[in-house]
Amino acid sequence: MKFNSKWTRQHLIGIEELSREEINIILATAASFKQTMQRSNKKLPTLRGRSIVNFFMEPSTRTRMAFEVAAGNLSADVITITGNASSLVKGETIRDTAANIKALNADMIIMRHSSAGAPKYLSRVVDLPIINAGDGAHEHPTQALLDCYTLQENLKNIEGRKITILGDILFSRVARSNIWALKKLGAQVTVAGPATLVPKEFTQFGVEVCHDLRKALEDADAVMLLRIQHERQNATHFPSIGEYTRMFGLNKERASWLKPDAIIMHPGPINRGVEIDSQLADSDRSVILQQVTNGIAVRMAVIYLCMNASLQSIK
Ligand code: CP
Repeated sequence: MKFNSKWTRQHLIGIEELSREEINIILATAASFKQTMQRSNKKLPTLRGRSIVNFFMEPSTRTRMAFEVAAGNLSADVITITGNASSLVKGETIRDTAANIKALNADMIIMRHSSAGAPKYLSRVVDLPIINAGDGAHEHPTQALLDCYTLQENLKNIEGRKITILGDILFSRVARSNIWALKKLGAQVTVAGPATLVPKEFTQFGVEVCHDLRKALEDADAVMLLRIQHERQNATHFPSIGEYTRMFGLNKERASWLKPDAIIMHPGPINRGVEIDSQLADSDRSVILQQVTNGIAVRMAVIYLCMNASLQSIK
């Protein structure tokens, strides 16, 4: 794999700061890595001898495992540290933990944290490449990148497509990162759901805010569903889960309002029978597991590009 010298970032903190060209470099690099993933021996020697620390302070299945598999596919050594099994519970600061990770010879930290801004802070106080694996309600950049990759795989082009993001937009880092990414790639983005979770203020990001589900789904090329993020809500934003499902859950009838070849996406974890009908989640229109697999190639690309930029800067 030839390193794209136009990529100069050691850190990936958010999509907001990326240009369209940078997003396309990641997607093109991921496409090359996806080809290598089809081989019987998936391992590339690219990062042999490098160590990557997965520093996860919040629960995760897909992101954590995809980063582990991605780093392993590049032959890096991977160490995972989880919040309640680290010395943070003994009062150590994140800054000191990160300094110790560096002293233990790590070459990169991948961080998930419940506080918005934690990966940005780490990138300022420790001299290692930092990848944001989700910070509070701020950003989840690799999720948006794998979503864009999956959209390109299925729709061929994103420019001019209508993409509807439906659900708990207010508390969603996935929504924020996807809004940045999709707008930069030229999509028409609609955010939909109850007014309490989809405030009008989102129009300032250049998206359409819609509280009429039929209007939001009609003519959409793809719908991205989001679960209700109870862990980030400190008040009730709708009467009950049953009420939410009745008003905004995607079922077979409502899915028929989409374009006939539209795809159904979800970053996971899904809550079957709440934001998505269980049969629909397993239907031919659902690309939910394709998104998960694409997450490996996209994270290989991000690790590879940021690690190389870091190594170039210390030459
Ligand atoms: N989509 C996503 O971030 O899933 P996990 O929380 O399981 O990593």
